[in-house]
Amino acid sequence: MKELEETVGWLRARTSVSPRVGVVLGSGLGGFASRLTDCVDIPYEAIPHWPVSTAEGHAGRLILGRLRELPVAVMAGRAHLYEGYRPDQVVFGVRVLGRLGVRALVLTNAAGGINPAFQRGLLVLISDHINLQGANPLVGPNEESLGPRFPDMTEAYSARLRQIARETAAELGIPVAEGVYAAMLGPSYETPAEIRFLRTIGADLVGMSTVPEVIAARHMGLSVLAISCVTNMAAGLAPGPLSHREVLETGEMVRDRLSRLLEALLPRVAAEVAGS
Ligand code: HPA
Repeated sequence: MKELEETVGWLRARTSVSPRVGVVLGSGLGGFASRLTDCVDIPYEAIPHWPVSTAEGHAGRLILGRLRELPVAVMAGRAHLYEGYRPDQVVFGVRVLGRLGVRALVLTNAAGGINPAFQRGLLVLISDHINLQGANPLVGPNEESLGPRFPDMTEAYSARLRQIARETAAELGIPVAEGVYAAMLGPSYETPAEIRFLRTIGADLVGMSTVPEVIAARHMGLSVLAISCVTNMAAGLAPGPLSHREVLETGEMVRDRLSRLLEALLPRVAAEVAGS
């Protein structure tokens, strides 16, 4: 893929950081990036071929830096299908990180809570997903240099990394749950009837991102950990309408907690995937 190689070459010319772990920060969750040192911080619009995210609350920067000793790459903000991007554009950043050498990808997102045991502000480790976006980033001729035509998705979300995340959260006193994430195209929120349907088919969370990136990451053989922040209870489960404002406000509320968790977690994730 010519564009991918051009972007990777462009980035390599600007930093000596060889990231081992990649992080994608979702809506209103961008705070973690400020914990890095020795940073090269590049706005997406400056990077060749990089899709520029337009959603409010998405900063849109790639940060290559160090978390203490650990070299990491952080995408603050992501492209979504609902913005009109093609699936291959949505996953471009993840593929760049894969080519830069990350072995594990930690994704965060804002999600609606479907499981009635969840509440606003809860962090949930994604255990599996249901792709209802009607799109897949691997459609089209397979790029053999990235991965196989028919990648396995049996354990898309590493059980081992989830275990490490649960242990780390427990040490920090941060409550975390686990659940299945249903990916919708958006940008309209779901109807209450759609939420009842999603609950019936086994979803605990609903959102509009992450799944294309996970598919592209698994295609490349990266280990994946994904953490949803329940920014609101899904449509029909709480009184009143949903709003993007509520999503951003809850994101701000949990940003610190999520940053603390990521800071403790990333070195352990890196150690787990070292040599893979
Ligand atoms: N639905 C879909 N996406 C979301 C939601 C939701 O309720 N909250 C945050 N992202």
